[in-house]
Amino acid sequence: MGSAAPSNRPLEVAMEGLARLEYRGYDSAGVAVVTPDGLASAKRAGKLSNLREALETAPLPAGTVAIGHTRWATHGAPTDLNAHPHLSEDGRLAVIHNGIIENFQTLKVELLDAGVSFQSETDTEVVAHLLARAYAESEDLTAAMLAVTRRLEGAYTLLAVHAAEPGTVVGARRNSPLVIGLGDGENFLGSDVAAFISHTREALEMGQDQVVTITADDVRVVDADGNPAEGRRFTVDWDANAAVKGGFGTFMEKEIHDQPKAVADTLLGRTDGQGNLVLDELRIDEAVLRSVDKIIVIACGTAAYAGHVAKYAVEHWCRIPVEVELAHEFRYRDPVVSEKTLVVAISQSGETMDTIMAVRHAREQGAKVLAVVNTHGSTIPRESDAVLYTHAGPEVAVASTKAFLAQITACYLLGLYLAQLRGNKFPDEVAGYLEELGKLPEKIQHVIDHADEVRAVAEAMKDASSVLFLGRHVGYPVALEGALKLKELAYIHAEGFAAGELKHGPIALIEEGQPVFFIVPTPRRPVLHNKVVSNIQEVRARGARTLVIAEEGDEAVNEFADVVFRVPRTPTLMMPLVTVVPLQIFACALAGAKGYDVDQPRNLAKSVTVE
Ligand code: F6R
Repeated sequence: MGSAAPSNRPLEVAMEGLARLEYRGYDSAGVAVVTPDGLASAKRAGKLSNLREALETAPLPAGTVAIGHTRWATHGAPTDLNAHPHLSEDGRLAVIHNGIIENFQTLKVELLDAGVSFQSETDTEVVAHLLARAYAESEDLTAAMLAVTRRLEGAYTLLAVHAAEPGTVVGARRNSPLVIGLGDGENFLGSDVAAFISHTREALEMGQDQVVTITADDVRVVDADGNPAEGRRFTVDWDANAAVKGGFGTFMEKEIHDQPKAVADTLLGRTDGQGNLVLDELRIDEAVLRSVDKIIVIACGTAAYAGHVAKYAVEHWCRIPVEVELAHEFRYRDPVVSEKTLVVAISQSGETMDTIMAVRHAREQGAKVLAVVNTHGSTIPRESDAVLYTHAGPEVAVASTKAFLAQITACYLLGLYLAQLRGNKFPDEVAGYLEELGKLPEKIQHVIDHADEVRAVAEAMKDASSVLFLGRHVGYPVALEGALKLKELAYIHAEGFAAGELKHGPIALIEEGQPVFFIVPTPRRPVLHNKVVSNIQEVRARGARTLVIAEEGDEAVNEFADVVFRVPRTPTLMMPLVTVVPLQIFACALAGAKGYDVDQPRNLAKSVTVE
């Protein structure tokens, strides 16, 4: 952040921004301030609170600009020394970095040969030393940044300050996010607009390989050759409160409660008032979409499970084959992709490096790529042919909840749009589905409002060492998601299976008292429903404790269930939007009962910006 006269504000703004972005990585944190007497910095391993304490004990002087960073270690352990910022040898230049400098070893050898001594084991420190050397030649921080970034390979967001340019912060980005906040007499840089949302909603997107120089009253963006570049200006349409806990104990609880709104907002404005879908944001020629003969969904983790749900709906509605593939697997095999393939990349952050690489690979093979993304100004939509934004608002808790529901909703919209466009569904049929979708926010709210028993059961199960999740049809990805939530939040062994797969192996795991969740399809689909009820009986007969998620009025499950969690009656394909909610609440409550930090589970980061 840059402002005019020296004050504590730059540091305060940087610290507040770090608090808002701490979810992106949180194994160490640091800040640097440019003061009238030079550069001052502080950094600490551990959470931001450690840095805050250090600053209370030894405050930094007032300054004109400040930069700050929370780290998620890639090179070098999370120690004080490896925390950012990294300084030049003379201590007059500081740099922070997100991403990985892939050629850092080569650069480091070159610097060592030149007699430079290193303080840390990070890849970032090479940038500090390279910038200092480039600065010695040009005496211009922007020019130095341009010269250095030309030499870097890999992914980076870099911010640098220099004591000789006390009013300036210079930033650069490649394959990693950086957004500019345009304030009144002050300007900001952040990995995400959440960093500066309480100060300005006016923002500027930065393109690939661009370099930005901000001062209190000026913002200049240039391309890699130093030529002036124009960023896309946008206004952030959510407010600062959306990024704070809003009265809940944790972000995750808040975000679970945000889910009805996330689904409603994702549906909002996508029809013409007569029940017809209009998805203007798609930006892929209708003729191209009509000729699509295969869809491949690429995503990771929870987003990939949203893709699994999409497969059932899109194939059923559009009669187009849909493959769902983890982005990192897609990228490194030899997928069959042509101009008639539509690749759908699903991502909350829009910054998942595995998914970015898969998007690039798909486009190189001639496929059209449609992004389903939550974060405006992020890389995946920028690099795709089209985007369908989910409107879940900022998701801060590391474990995805509301973004998952919004992704599924957006995929339903996409499926219905394609079905309408390609003539698989008549407008009145589409209108019928949309009407059903429109009822979902209220149904999700109902599940949230009646979750006390889920929490009580979770708390009673806090010592469980293994939990299994079984589902069939769209209940299968829900089972996978239920298991993932429990693993990542409560550190319990949890596995999801397709219920039909039970007899092909997993049933051997069943022993007395083994908890098994079942996601039961509606009894209005008797063929599916009866199969799952049989599966419940099979594990019950072997001593399992059965926890069943079933529709209201489905009495057939009662006899075989130890516990039943009810969800409102919902069309089969849309059931994931309600059946996953008790599983999210279960994982959150169980992890809470164990005393774990549900917003920042160990070893994880919100955006996985490395491959
Ligand atoms: C799990 C979770 C992750 C993400 C995955 C993809 O709760 O959040 O599995 O879904 O890392 O992230 P995005 O959607 O940002 O690409």
